[in-house]
Amino acid sequence: MSTDTATTREQTDLSTRYLGLDLSSPIVASASPMTEHVDSIVALEAAGVGAVVLPSLFEEEILAEEHMVDSAFELGAEQHYEARGYFPLPSEVRGVAERYVGRLEAAKAAVRIPVIASLNAWHAGAWSRYGRLLADAGADAIELNVYRVATNEKLSAAELEAAELAFIAEVCERAGVPVAVKLSPFYSSFANFAAKVVAAGASGLVLFNRFYQPDLDLETMEVLPRVHLSSSTELGLPLRWTAILRPQLGEEVSLAASSGVEHGSDVAKLIAAGADVVMVASELLRSGARGAATLEASLRDAMELTGHATLAELHGCASRASAPRGEAFERAQYVRTLRSWGAGLTGHR
Ligand SMILES: Cc1cc2nc3c(=O)[nH]c(=O)nc-3n(C[C@H](O)[C@H](O)[C@H](O)COP(=O)(O)O)c2cc1C
Repeated sequence: MSTDTATTREQTDLSTRYLGLDLSSPIVASASPMTEHVDSIVALEAAGVGAVVLPSLFEEEILAEEHMVDSAFELGAEQHYEARGYFPLPSEVRGVAERYVGRLEAAKAAVRIPVIASLNAWHAGAWSRYGRLLADAGADAIELNVYRVATNEKLSAAELEAAELAFIAEVCERAGVPVAVKLSPFYSSFANFAAKVVAAGASGLVLFNRFYQPDLDLETMEVLPRVHLSSSTELGLPLRWTAILRPQLGEEVSLAASSGVEHGSDVAKLIAAGADVVMVASELLRSGARGAATLEASLRDAMELTGHATLAELHGCASRASAPRGEAFERAQYVRTLRSWGAGLTGHR
């Protein structure tokens, strides 16, 4: 490659907008241990990511802590007066939320890229105030992860969805900064639910939250937590739904594609499908912060190969081609995929 070509390639405009924020790159570090500490956030910024999403503040952690503090006080109340001095007063307890705010403030002070805080919860009520707390602490936006496993046989899908939408509306109304909702793909009518999430006040959607299925130890019959990192084989789901939703939701709604981003070509495909940004966790956990620089370089390669001079040019070109409802990504594609087996069309990579 000549020096001129290399220079032009490095100058390719990769800027994008996400949740009203101007980003220099569409590659965003998703919530994971990679974004837990300030030094790795600084390394990610140096490697070129457009923004970072901090690991979540979990509803369960706060509830467990509240329970612990309550129990400690009940125990203290039964003790002699002086013994109560052993138990910290509420104002002296640096709780989970305060520690989170501390990490958020440290990250904001250390980098110039936007820092997105993440809230992982789904019960309505007092919860919505945490979004505001994180916004007040400097979060540029909030990512709301409404992860849940619908195990209650007495609750219908409609009831569950109504509860989630009420919660989302509450958080969005109180946050004071843009909110992106990170969704699972497990809704009966996903496009309908996605539109309702936007109507509830979300500025963007993150497609998708990845479910971690447990394993079972046959000797002890213990349920084991199991995290396996993703690969490009999981790209199909965010690719399909980004392409379907982009024309339906319009350009005002931010779309982040998440799950299975391993190579620069994956980034290029998701942007072509209509994503404003792509979120990456597994690949960064595998390769470290430098994985972001590698992804960016191979995104530039893919753009050069496909003749797209800017990210804006690439953005949405595949979903526009299949508009208005993303037919190419619907049922016809299912038949074509099955027929392609053995006909040399199926990619085995
Ligand atoms: C070890 C680990 C920790 C994660 N922690 C969080 C988290 O705190 N909050 C969250 O919303 N997602 C979390 N995720 C999910 C990622 O942000 C991401 O959505 C998912 O891994 C899919 O992206 P990937 O295919 O690039 O890994 C975590 C993922 C991993 C692997």
